[in-house]
This record gives sequence, structure tokens and C-alpha cells, in this order.
Amino acid sequence: MPKNDELRVIASKAKQSPKVLEAEITLPDGSQRRNKKHELLEIKNLSVSVACKIVLDNVSMSVKEGEVVGLLGPNGSGKTSLGLTLMGHPRYQVTAGKVMFAGKNLLAMKPEERAKAGLFMSFQNPLEIQGVPFGKFLFTAYKEVKNPNISAKEFIALLREKCQFLGVEQSFVERSVNEGFSGGEKKRAEILQLAILEPKLAILDETDSGLDIKATKIVAQAIKKISQINPKMSILLITHYEKFLNQLKPDRILNIEKGMVK
Ligand SMILES: Nc1ncnc2c1ncn2[C@@H]1O[C@H](COP(=O)(O)OP(=O)(O)OP(=O)(O)O)[C@@H](O)[C@H]1O
Ligand SMILES: [Mg+2]
Repeated sequence: MPKNDELRVIASKAKQSPKVLEAEITLPDGSQRRNKKHELLEIKNLSVSVACKIVLDNVSMSVKEGEVVGLLGPNGSGKTSLGLTLMGHPRYQVTAGKVMFAGKNLLAMKPEERAKAGLFMSFQNPLEIQGVPFGKFLFTAYKEVKNPNISAKEFIALLREKCQFLGVEQSFVERSVNEGFSGGEKKRAEILQLAILEPKLAILDETDSGLDIKATKIVAQAIKKISQINPKMSILLITHYEKFLNQLKPDRILNIEKGMVK
């Protein structure tokens, strides 16, 4: 893991080279004006407790549409807690603050409503679900979140296309969700979910952890590809590793320490 000083250098580099987030709009008179991309996620003064412990302390931050934001911080600083709170995990009690997502009050929404609104999180430690084929799991999720009317035939075609796109073997989706998957396969399974669900905001929680150098590169390239074909998709990229950040080139990097985002 890079040391704090190294992370600060990466953070300052990212700040120096922000990706352009403003689009040119041509007005009827031929002149041009800039159209500032709007905030997709706005967190204001968010405090969260879990098991009587404060895990997020007065956090304010935002993510714009199409923006890739890196989130760095030492172990136990609250990165996963932030993601799970946004997803609506019942253990994480919001004690103060406000969160707006795509113009709606996120905190008033149930977890499934948040997913339908376009929020997605890939887990740091994906769970195994015995007896549920991964393809069936994806089909159910797709129908719930994206399109309840898609037929099995149409979905199989979509799944085949996404597997090819990510270089994932078809047999992968016939196995039970994550059961017996290697660490690297579990992370690729998370990315396949991302490719299928195409959310508005993807919270990727250490998608690179436990991967060897080659697999890290494959996963980074896959995320890049998904982000290129979905330029409006925003990504909150939680990681400890400089290499992964360098491969994905976030627009901004935020640091979290002891539950406080700086
Ligand atoms: N369900 C829980 N019960 C008790 N403590 C919890 C729970 N969930 C999180 N915590 C505590 O909250 C703090 C923040 O944890 P979190 O998982 O958010 O850290 P993190 O920044 O994701 O760390 P890492 O880099 O190791 O993944 C830790 O001290 C952790 O023990
Ligand atoms: Mg974590």
C-alpha cells in the first residue's frame, strides 16, 4: 500500500489535471456557452453510527454526473461505511445530514428504490449465494432495476454480449453466485454486474483488492470500457493502490480519515 505522502502526491496530481466536465452548447445566435454538469450526488454534513460507534462524522462531498472520484483512506476510516450508508444498509444509522441523489432525497428511499434510481455498489467482500445461478441472479436484478419487461431470450443475448465485451467465459454465469469463485473471479463478477446494470453512480469498493497485476489491469480496463460507453456514469472509486488510480485517472481524489472526508 502506498504511504500517506505518496497518496497526497497522487491526490495533488489528480487535482492538477481534472477531466473537462463542461460541455460546449451552441446557442441559436451561433455563440457558445458552457453547460456545467450537475451534481449527481450531494452529501451534506452526514454523520452515521453503527453499533454505537460514529463511523462518519459530518461528511460533505459531491459527485458530478460523469465524474470519476477516487476515495482514499486508511483501514477503518469509513470508506465502506460511506458506501453501505448510501446503499441503505439497515445497520448504518444516519444521525445527521442530508443526501441528494439525482435530485431526490436518498435517505428517504428504501435500498431497492436506491438501486432503481441508479445507485450501485460493488462489494469489497462479495457474498456467496449457494444454489442461485449467477445468470439468474443478474436476470432478476436487471428486471428489478432496469426493465421488468425484458424476456429471458433478450436477456441471454444481452448477457452474452456483456460477457464477450468483458472477456468473461459463458460458463461463469451458470455457476452459483460467487460460490467457489477465486478472489479475482469474484471481482470480475462484480464488474459484470456493473456492465449489465449500467447505474448512474457506481461505488466500487476496493474492486482491485486481492488481484494480481494482470487481473488488476484487466479489471481497470473493463471499468474504463464501461465508463467510455456510459459517459454519464459517475464512479466513486475506493482503493488503496496508486496503480489502480493511475489506470483509471480519476477527476478528483478525496481523502477520508477517521470518518471525516477532506
Ligand atoms: N457493523 C459494524 N459493527 C461494528 N463496527 C463497525 C461495523 N461496520 C463498520 N464498523 C467500524 O467502522 C469503522 C470503519 O469501517 P469501514 O469498513 O467503513 O472502514 P474502511 O475505510 O472501509 O476500511 P478498509 O480500508 O479496511 O476496508 C471501523 O472501525 C469498523 O470496525
Ligand atoms: Mg472497506
